[in-house]
Amino acid sequence: MSPFLITRTLPEDATEAALRSDVLHGLTRTPKTLPPKWFYDALGSELFEEITALPEYYPTRAEREILAARAPEIAAATGARTLVELGSGSSEKTRHLLDALPDLHTYVPVDVSASALTQAGRALAAERPALDVHALIADFTGGLTLPDTPGPRLVAFLGGTIGNLLPAERAAFLASVRSLLSPGDHLLLGTDLVKDESVLVAAYDDAAGVTAAFNKNVLSVVNRELGADFDPDAFDHVARWNAGEEWIEMRLRARSAQTVKIPALDLAVEFAAGEELRTEVSAKFREERVRAELAAAGLGLSHWWTDTGGRFALSLGTAR
Ligand code: AVJ
Repeated sequence: MSPFLITRTLPEDATEAALRSDVLHGLTRTPKTLPPKWFYDALGSELFEEITALPEYYPTRAEREILAARAPEIAAATGARTLVELGSGSSEKTRHLLDALPDLHTYVPVDVSASALTQAGRALAAERPALDVHALIADFTGGLTLPDTPGPRLVAFLGGTIGNLLPAERAAFLASVRSLLSPGDHLLLGTDLVKDESVLVAAYDDAAGVTAAFNKNVLSVVNRELGADFDPDAFDHVARWNAGEEWIEMRLRARSAQTVKIPALDLAVEFAAGEELRTEVSAKFREERVRAELAAAGLGLSHWWTDTGGRFALSLGTAR
């Protein structure tokens, strides 16, 4: 069997410390915010999987369509011998790439979830005896060190997750990705695109209420991890298009005035009736913005592929 290695660069207690800090800072500022990474406990990850199958939530299907159609072009343009996938999760979408890259030597899935990495990594290594799989348990927004693997390198960041970063965070993230690359290496980036407001809002406020449950789940995470007493039913799910910033915002709106206790932080948080807590920004892009942001990080936009509906894009950025 081919080697399957797993390396942890994330301390076991890093997650709890980061959650405490995010909750303390986010709930004591105005307006209140929580970062979207805390949606994804076991239930939140399941709810997200459900979201990807909803009729209103097009990004996953649109991206899969592009990957299926363009994998041979991606392979030809990159000649990648190492594929690094940031936020790999179950590595499901990556199969198109793995199948299309004839010279692939090493696959490096990177995720904060050790369980997802172990399952997906083992299965892949067993299926493809010729492929080295070196999984990294790491937070890719915190600066990464990659194993010493053969070039050319292709780093894939799919799903439109880059939209969860605010503009300054995006710039820092793209610069840190660039620092992992040598000239001629590549970044494959998935971005959702600006489109009709009604289509965007429906994708984040589905009729079955799955996204509402996903949004409220962050309150259950804070309850469980920090002993808080949020009542998820005391909040309404809100999805709003911010036309100035060109991003979708998810919020939780307090139905009535209430005080929430967070014992682990020795904190009591007051909500006014109607007050909104922002839980996610999901930025939508245009080609020119992607080109400019890649360029600012030292990456040239060498390919731009969209689905037939023009809803979602895959960009290939090449390190200069
Ligand atoms: C996983 C970050 C790409 O922003 O569309 C889905 C998360 N939030 N529905 C997105 C999400 C609400 C998703 N990403």
